Amino acid sequence: MSNRFSRTGEPGTGWRPWVAGVFMAVLGGAAAAQAELPYNVADVPALGSEWRVANPYRGNAEVARAGGVAFNHNCARCHGVDAVASGMGGMPAPDLRRLARACRRIKDAALQSACMDDDDDYFRVTVLEGKTVVGVQHMPAWKGQLTQETIWALKTYVDARGAEGKR
Ligand code: HEC
Repeated sequence: MSNRFSRTGEPGTGWRPWVAGVFMAVLGGAAAAQAELPYNVADVPALGSEWRVANPYRGNAEVARAGGVAFNHNCARCHGVDAVASGMGGMPAPDLRRLARACRRIKDAALQSACMDDDDDYFRVTVLEGKTVVGVQHMPAWKGQLTQETIWALKTYVDARGAEGKR
């Protein structure tokens, strides 16, 4: 009878293919989980190294989805899963769905766009630099940790979440 555990023909190595099999199964599982993600921040359009001051992905639903995945990885522990920071009483950080609410109320399209530009810039600087108030770090700095693409995908996501609830 052929024994798949002794393919190498070497005595005493029967465990190796078995271990490799488990390893491959785990890797395969990880690859499958990756493939199920609707969109990934690694796949959003590249922006190069020059920092934009306004969100180049504004209103892009695909990018917002990718940003949501990145948000739950990096920001949710303080700002809430799916950016739901309010209502539970326990979240230590502001509800980012409300960040652009003042802009959303502006009727004039050009003024609203200018307001969003300011909001984007505030978001970018805050995320890159973090927030330290009288020597106490309220939020860590993300400079060097998140790409420009990820930061703008995060902004696209929180804006989309805010617009959903008309906050
Ligand atoms: C360790 C907890 C923590 C993590 C993780 C965290 N934040 Fe914060 N963040 C805070 C706190 C606390 C504040 C409020 C700081 C203050 O106002 O002094 C804040 C404030 C902000 C603000 C300003 C909000 C406002 O209304 O002025 C933005 C924007 C922000 N965070 C974005 C993010 C993003 C994006 C991420 C993920 C990349 C993130 N944060 C991860 C704790 C965190």
